[in-house]
Amino acid sequence: MIDLALVPVAGWGTRMLPATKSQPKEMLPVGRKPIVQYVVEELVKSGIRQVLFITGQGKTSIENHFDIDAPLITYLRETGREEQLQELQFEREDVEYFYTRQRRQLGLGHAVLCGKAMIGAHPFVVALGDSIIGLNAESDIVSRMTSIFEREKADIVVCFEEVPSEEVVHYGIAKPKGTVGEIFELADLIEKPSVADAPSRLAVAARYVFSPVIFDALAETKPGKGGEIQLTDAIHILLKRGHKGIGVKLADHERRFDIGNFESYFQAFVEFALADPQYGAALHEHVRRLLN
Ligand code: G1P
Repeated sequence: MIDLALVPVAGWGTRMLPATKSQPKEMLPVGRKPIVQYVVEELVKSGIRQVLFITGQGKTSIENHFDIDAPLITYLRETGREEQLQELQFEREDVEYFYTRQRRQLGLGHAVLCGKAMIGAHPFVVALGDSIIGLNAESDIVSRMTSIFEREKADIVVCFEEVPSEEVVHYGIAKPKGTVGEIFELADLIEKPSVADAPSRLAVAARYVFSPVIFDALAETKPGKGGEIQLTDAIHILLKRGHKGIGVKLADHERRFDIGNFESYFQAFVEFALADPQYGAALHEHVRRLLN
């Protein structure tokens, strides 16, 4: 049973300045919660009990967020605010948190490699800390992926979402082997290809499962797109050597909210706020009035 996840949160978030100047983009709220809380809650639902964050400069508020805040809990309890106390339930989940820093910004592949000493010889999940899967993170994609990883004896399982062809330039893109169903075998993976070079419209959707052999490939991976050490390139190395890689498609209700820029952030925020059980209906009315 895989219960260990690595969550990279070291990126600078330059596409979301000035909002991200002094706070991590992973801590921006979408509806009521910071993005990274949705990511962790999704992982916990899928059986993850150890979370290793790969952090960087300016990311300490993420560590603070997952601490148990005893004085705040006491204050809420003593002042009879049981409802607000409920909102801190996530702190008390049976999860262990670990933090290490990516000391140089050398890319996503390098960030994953920073977890090598702690992860050692265990299979593990990688969940990008800036992407929410499903409205309110209602997705069991990671537990589906870990089951497939074990059943298929794969070294790599990657989650995919079909994107419009003009968007392939923003993602790692799958070259499937054979027919593409809900699950398919990977022939190759290409980081951010041009529309003309893209072998499909299946885009890597921020969740991966790896056997520790990925660390060997990452150690050999040369800087690729953007001069960065790309996780996609390490997967490419393994696939070319005959390691088994499986792709899993997100279900229709499991949209990926990729909070990398303001366009997608605004969309995610509005969608989550409209789904809020308390204020969603009134917001719906408000937006309708604004649009008329
Ligand atoms: C990273 C990966 C890319 C993947 C994307 C979303 O890109 O390199 O392959 O498709 O995350 O999961 P980034 O968004 O960091 O540029």
